[in-house]
Amino acid sequence: MPDGCGMVEGVGGTADGMTALGLDFVDARVEASVGAVLARVETQLRASVASADPLVTEAARHLVEAGGKRFRPVLVALGAQFGDPTAPQVVPAAVVMELTHLATLYHDDVMDEAPVRRGAQSANSRWTNSVAILVGDYLFARAADIAADLGTEAVRLQARTFARLVHGQIAETVGPRAGDDPVAHYLHVIAEKTGSLIATSARFGGMFGGASAADTEALAGYGETIGVAFQLSDDLLDIASDSVQSGKTPGTDLREGVPTLPVLYALGSDDGDAASVRLREILAAGPVTDDALHAEALGLLRESPALKRARETVRSYAEEARARLRPLPDGAPRRALESLCDFIADRTG
Ligand code: IPE
Ligand code: IPE
Ligand code: MG
Ligand code: MG
Repeated sequence: MPDGCGMVEGVGGTADGMTALGLDFVDARVEASVGAVLARVETQLRASVASADPLVTEAARHLVEAGGKRFRPVLVALGAQFGDPTAPQVVPAAVVMELTHLATLYHDDVMDEAPVRRGAQSANSRWTNSVAILVGDYLFARAADIAADLGTEAVRLQARTFARLVHGQIAETVGPRAGDDPVAHYLHVIAEKTGSLIATSARFGGMFGGASAADTEALAGYGETIGVAFQLSDDLLDIASDSVQSGKTPGTDLREGVPTLPVLYALGSDDGDAASVRLREILAAGPVTDDALHAEALGLLRESPALKRARETVRSYAEEARARLRPLPDGAPRRALESLCDFIADRTG
């Protein structure tokens, strides 16, 4: 992976969301404004996770400092450009979104038994499942505390967003009910578990920047759709990327038996070539935990028509997200949001 092309994710000690997300600004003032919000978010994030207990502080700072793309704070900062990005509630709103996200990562890595996160050891692997779960809870508590200063509406939105996210994670864990279409189920899961928080991030930007109600709704609609595209692309990266690019362990979904879109497309295809038949045979048996079979399935998936088809689906969601921006005034902030659509469509190859 070449350096400096803005595609290396989740590695390194400094968070540079604007670079990691390949954001394209046409206006240096907007770039500086987003940069200023993100810099203050970094400082407040670190301060906000400090605890009287040194273990809690260390384990909470662990993933804050490991980096990450800061996608949700970037969306708050960009949404605020449609009002006044220097409004005092913009930075804490972004901190609430990133803390909520971070908390879900601590819990998600326990559920997924994931050893690596943001290019660092996951908290469950560095400490224990119990520590990771409790520190995740602590981060939710910190997010709620900061949201309280933003008012009742912010607390309610954060709570409802988090409830949607949890329902998405539960629906993923339980799987489709008899008679459900597995692809429709999966698309519902990712809207709930990922689209929800990304939509609220964009909404918070509009709300706390003081954008019009119509612009704020358009931002939330964009966030929901780009959130689905983002999760789809993440699921493709789990198959197609290496750990340097993703900062995570490739093939985790396959090992955990989480049937993401390429797997569902492969299982639903009637391609009769030997590779497709063999792939269906491995996937139909459930979680692929055997190392040799796992390597074989990953190799077959990487070359499969199903992966290509899933890439097209990512593109179509990225295009839909772009269309959702149309009601917003044309200008540099909208262009920057559009560049995120390109980044997400392109990051899966
Ligand atoms: C990971 O989110 C979980 C998903 C919703 C795909 P990110 O890809 O935004 O993770 P970080 O914050 O950059 O580590
Ligand atoms: C996690 O989805 C989404 C949330 C944390 C809500 P994934 O399990 O696909 O995310 P990664 O791949 O571990 O980042
Ligand atoms: Mg996971
Ligand atoms: Mg994933």
